[in-house]
Amino acid sequence: MASKRKGGLTRRDFLRTAVAAGAGMGLARIAGATESEGTPSAPPAGAPSMIGVPFEGFRTVRVGIIGVGGRGTGLLGDLLAIPDVQVKAICDIVRDKVLNAQRMVVGSGQPNPEGYWASETDYENLCKRDDLDLIYIATPWDWHVPMAVSGMLNGKHVGVEVPAATTVKDCWKLVDTSEKTRKHCVMLENVCYGYSEMMVLNMVRSGVFGELTHGEAAYIHDLRGLLFSGGGEALWRREGRIQLKRAQSSAVEAEGRGSPSLAGPSTAATAGDEFAARAHACPAPINRPQRRRSAAGPDGRARRAATTP
Ligand SMILES: NC(=O)c1ccc[n+]([C@@H]2O[C@H](COP(=O)([O-])OP(=O)(O)OC[C@H]3O[C@@H](n4cnc5c(N)ncnc54)[C@H](O)[C@@H]3O)[C@@H](O)[C@H]2O)c1
Repeated sequence: MASKRKGGLTRRDFLRTAVAAGAGMGLARIAGATESEGTPSAPPAGAPSMIGVPFEGFRTVRVGIIGVGGRGTGLLGDLLAIPDVQVKAICDIVRDKVLNAQRMVVGSGQPNPEGYWASETDYENLCKRDDLDLIYIATPWDWHVPMAVSGMLNGKHVGVEVPAATTVKDCWKLVDTSEKTRKHCVMLENVCYGYSEMMVLNMVRSGVFGELTHGEAAYIHDLRGLLFSGGGEALWRREGRIQLKRAQSSAVEAEGRGSPSLAGPSTAATAGDEFAARAHACPAPINRPQRRRSAAGPDGRARRAATTP
């Protein structure tokens, strides 16, 4: 079947399994599913999976960028260092940021890209251009899904910064749009390609640890400086974090296993815990004992207890 890849797992299967596992840990509610929805079930597939579908094989890749704050500007520099990448259009709601990005492109020897800064939805005009192959999105989290959907509906592949979506429903929206439009939607997680991560992966594959029966990991990122600053990501990420903490707190209360460390928007208490800041992260601290118990499979063997993006 076209929608199956070699290992027999489609993206749809994967997401369904992940949601089921998340529901066991109270993630469905954290991730935005309401009580009445319960665990969101997989919507029927309207089209075959995009897993394993190759890109067209471009001679040059024409890129449009939405969001040239800290991350977008940094990645723009990386893109400009790659031969055969052309940056054709730049969008941000802050004009100066667009102008700065345009200067970078011109400084690299490429023609001045078109700039879009007219409004919060000017990105739609960028998405409509007919000279783009890929749209790279590096905006605040709430914008990721509408921008990625717009890009795919306008016939472009999209690369979205982490997290691609913050609710299960929105994850399905991305999957469905990708399958329907036959355009790839790639979440640009990069930490999994770090030196340490690749080294451990290599060790696992080489059998250094023998048969793996349990894995546990965390992404520890001290965000205190960022969250208490007055610019950049702090302008939107602080608020998102407060909302997430509230949602976590409600979920924990609803499950009757209140945890003082999670109650309220106490940023200071857990400010260094990037893991909890991710919308698809677990509602409990990573090493709470009951998580290990709940992660045991029916055969009594421990399964992967915690994952991070
Ligand atoms: N992969 C990584 O290592 C990494 C590192 C940092 C940030 N990120 C991710 O990158 C994304 C952006 O983070 P950042 O640090 O660059 O934040 P930032 O606040 O510095 O940049 C966001 C930019 O988006 C612009 N923007 C906001 N709304 C817009 C709209 N409607 N249309 C166009 N532009 C809009 C803002 O003006 C700003 O310039 C986030 O998703 C973040 O999680 C990833």
